[in-house]
Amino acid sequence: MSSRGSDSRPNLFLSTRKIYKAPFVRAESNIFTSGRLVNYRYGSGPDEVDAFFNAKKPWSKVKDKIVGDYIHCYLQTIQRLERPILIVDGFSGPGRFGDGTAGSPLIICDAISATDKGRVGIGCLFADTHPGHRTALERTLVEHIKRGVSEKPFDDWSEALTRALEVGTNSTLFFYLDPYGIKDLEFDMVKRIYERDPRRSTEVLINFNFRTFMRMSGNWGYGDSASEVSLKVKAAKVDTVNRVMDGDYWKAIVTNPSFDKIAREDAVVNAYMERVRRFFPFVYAIPVQDKNETEYAVPGDELARYHLIFGTRSRRAVRYMNDVARNALAPYLNKFKDGLLFDMTPERRQSAPRDLVKEEIVKAVTVKPLLRPDIYEIVIPKFFMQYLVKDYHKMIDELTFKEGRLYPDRSTMHRKTQLNDKTLLSAKPWGIV
Ligand SMILES: C[S@@+](CC[C@H](N)C(=O)[O-])C[C@H]1O[C@@H](n2cnc3c(N)ncnc32)[C@H](O)[C@@H]1O
Repeated sequence: MSSRGSDSRPNLFLSTRKIYKAPFVRAESNIFTSGRLVNYRYGSGPDEVDAFFNAKKPWSKVKDKIVGDYIHCYLQTIQRLERPILIVDGFSGPGRFGDGTAGSPLIICDAISATDKGRVGIGCLFADTHPGHRTALERTLVEHIKRGVSEKPFDDWSEALTRALEVGTNSTLFFYLDPYGIKDLEFDMVKRIYERDPRRSTEVLINFNFRTFMRMSGNWGYGDSASEVSLKVKAAKVDTVNRVMDGDYWKAIVTNPSFDKIAREDAVVNAYMERVRRFFPFVYAIPVQDKNETEYAVPGDELARYHLIFGTRSRRAVRYMNDVARNALAPYLNKFKDGLLFDMTPERRQSAPRDLVKEEIVKAVTVKPLLRPDIYEIVIPKFFMQYLVKDYHKMIDELTFKEGRLYPDRSTMHRKTQLNDKTLLSAKPWGIV
């Protein structure tokens, strides 16, 4: 992409576009210095910016950390495939919040600029239906657009998707879909991503908002009984929800009398992920929570603010996202332990016992001797987001040096008590293998 300017873009979208005033209160010269306040005119007009972008919310910071850290890892490693890389941010917003913090487009473009591009081109496509957001975004990204890292933003995510599928046939594609709600995530549209040639690397990170799902499927309350939910569902925007969810299977879940609000959330998100798993072998939900408890309240389990659904065909990608997501959620997970007498972590957020994870490590090595990175890629997908790679490293050390359940090929070790990533590990002593 960096080799292509915006000239190669079909005129179709540009020619139909109206010109609106720029959505800024003051001259742009003092607006775009990193970290400074941005003087947007807020409102819903075409030359204004949605009040949503006034200041970044705490949960958006968690989401941005996940996007930024993952894109950074992604760009470092995916270059090895030696194919052009295209990142699509389908619901991009103006690029910067009013409080000066970077929005996803800037986070992505900055990560690209900070990456040594090697021999492959890296580029991105953005889209936003709101003209005020597009105008602001073009100015935020002016330097990146000039350098050919990005094209001008598209008017709708479906256009950016079409463009990506057209120009990216041989590229590695990453899609970030972060709409306000869920109505724009029609499954048939998103499926165009999933159905791409499986020989090419394709990944998605989708913001799935269960609270919007609740609203659209009947605005039932957390405490509503299954029969109350059932009545409300009848009056809801059922067709839209069906199109997003790829069917009406969700109705049986939300009206199941044995589910409380937490069980409903888990079941709906899991069922949605099952649909995506028909296309991607690895699909996970990263719950981004509201930190709504006061300092003195006993922390409890709550619905997630939203889930980031991550889909990939690559075990290595799972390993990277595992650490990125675990680290980003650490402040939330730690509040169930830090300064408390007992571990109050809700059951669904608890990590599997280390003994069970060790068992899986030994099982993997029993099939054939493996290197440490291979073990990570086999075991981490089974325990996504429960332990960091450094924890697996420690467990492998314990299995080898304390418990005598793994046997290292000593000829590859530089020191007697230190494994490295080139050390083959076996479940039997080497003479017997
Ligand atoms: C949650 S915001 C995105 C925030 C952005 N990811 C960030 O970090 O700054 C959702 C954006 O999607 C835009 N939008 C809504 N419908 C859209 C569509 N069909 N195609 C593209 N953008 C859309 C909205 O105008 C809004 O700017």
